[in-house]
Parts: sequence; structure tokens; C-alpha cells
Amino acid sequence: MVIVLTTAGCGGDGQSTLDGQSRQSKDIAALWWVMLAIAAVVFGGAVVMLWIGYARRRSRGVPIIGEDEPAIQKLVVVFGVAIPIVVLVGLFVVANFAVISVTRAPAKGSTALTIQVVGHQWFWEVRYPGTRGAVTANEIHIPARTRVNLVATTADVIHSFWVPELNRKIDTIPDRTNQILLYADRAGTFRGQCAEFCGLQHAHMSMKVVAEPRAQYDAWVKGQAAPRRAPTAPAAQRGEQVFLANACASCHQIRGTSARGQIGPDLTHLASRTTLAALTIPNTRAELARWIRDPQHVKPGNKMPALKLSNNDVNALVAYLESLR
Ligand code: CUA
Repeated sequence: MVIVLTTAGCGGDGQSTLDGQSRQSKDIAALWWVMLAIAAVVFGGAVVMLWIGYARRRSRGVPIIGEDEPAIQKLVVVFGVAIPIVVLVGLFVVANFAVISVTRAPAKGSTALTIQVVGHQWFWEVRYPGTRGAVTANEIHIPARTRVNLVATTADVIHSFWVPELNRKIDTIPDRTNQILLYADRAGTFRGQCAEFCGLQHAHMSMKVVAEPRAQYDAWVKGQAAPRRAPTAPAAQRGEQVFLANACASCHQIRGTSARGQIGPDLTHLASRTTLAALTIPNTRAELARWIRDPQHVKPGNKMPALKLSNNDVNALVAYLESLR
């Protein structure tokens, strides 16, 4: 019942370490199950021995064996030394040679595509080199069944990039890059989470990987690389003026306009994303308006200030931003 409830709470986008959707993640899960099985046997053995010890507490010597010294010594050597050495060495070899060789950074030239991810307090900047400048945030599209080289770094503190159903974690470390293979066996959406405490909103620093058929991915990345489509509706046109005249433009970039800020996420195609604030809230008009009015209420400590805009200006901004497909 508990399991049903907790998994039901995860919704459609999987984030289970035990539900791997790639060779890497499946191997990690298999290692985990093996370790759980061994630990369960050891724990069970300890419980049984405690119970026997208790049941025979009135007899002399070691239960069952009595006071036979050589037998006691053998018991200690077999269960206290030999078995632990075999088990720990076995796990060491599997974990540090077999599983690591599967999950390590992909070899040069073995991948079809490179994506750059930059951790920020608190969102993920996602760049697609070689695509005429496609940049997005938090929602990482990749082609399914394709080896993708993900190169990660950080703009501020250490974060950790982790999409459990696809691969292990990698830390994002100032002034250096770490790499990981992203490969999805099937199309689908796989949720991930920053896995290194990075400040107040660490828990609200999620991301998702959307694996899709190649043609769909190609169309998506082409759309993301294009500059913003100039607004046609009057409210959206006014919204762009509001955006450029206020502090929005000094923190956010909207390609195709004079807004070139690099502090917050690129908003060129904001309306193509399904969530806001690193998956904290859904990307709807109501939530976006609430976010613009008081971002510190939604996500205390983030770098976005409340600009004290009039209702008209907020509505125009929302109309504009939601037109950026
Ligand atoms: Cu970024 Cu925790």
C-alpha cells in the first residue's frame, strides 16, 4: 500500500532509481538488488543467531557448538573473515570495474550529439552546440536510442546532475567540466533532481529529460535555435515593450530582441516549456502571473526580484511570454 501511494505520487515522469530505462541505469539497479539481497542474508543470519543465543542463554559456551574451541575458531574465521572478504571483494570488482565501465563518461567520438548543461542557483541552463544557438532551461530534449554526451559545469556552487532512470550522478564543479552519457532505451520523459545541497532552493532544482523520436527532436531543436517570433497580438506587443523597458532584460535573454541578460534562464521559447522555476510550478498563465508578481513567495531566495509592475503590465508580460513558442 505504501509503495503504491509513494509511486503514485510521482506522476507520469519517472524518477525511480529502480526503474532504469537505459543499460547504465539498469546495471546500477541490478547492483543495488544484489547488495540488498546480500545485506538481507547477513541481517537475517544475525537475527537468527541472536534468537538462538537468547533461547539457549542458560546453557554453557556457544549455542549449538558448546565449548569446542577449534570449532568456535573455525566459525569466526569462516563468517568473520572469509565470507566478508569474498563478498566485499566481489562487490568491489562489480561496482568499481563492471558498473563503472558502463556508466563512465562516454569515449570521444562514441556519441552522436553533445549537450552542455550549466548549473545555476537554482535552474539548469541547457545549450545545444552546433545548432545555431539553441538554449533552453530545465527541460532537456534528446533523441531516443541515441548516445548523447552531456557536459556539465556550474556558474556558481557545486550542484549534481542526476536523472536516475538514465544514469548515475555527476557533480557540476566550478571551472571544470564533467561528462556523462545520456541514453534512453525508449521515448519518454525522465525526471531528475539536483543531488548536491546547493542552498535554500536545492529541493526546487529539478529537470527533466524528454527523449523523443529523431524527427521530433530535430524539429524541436530547430525551433529552439530560432530567434523569438515577433509578437502579433497587441497585448503581447506591449508585453515585449514592458519586458525590454524593465529589469527583466538585464537578467534574461530573448534572442531576436535587445534582451541579453545571462543571470536567469533564456526565455526565447519559454512557452514551449511545460514548467517554470526548475519544475517548481506548471507553465500556465495563472502560475506565470503569480511568479512575476512575487517570485520570492514561490521560491524564496532565488535571484528574481518582484518588480512591482501594474496589473496591466503583468498581464501584457504574461501574454507576451506565453506567445514565445
Ligand atoms: Cu543545485 Cu542542489
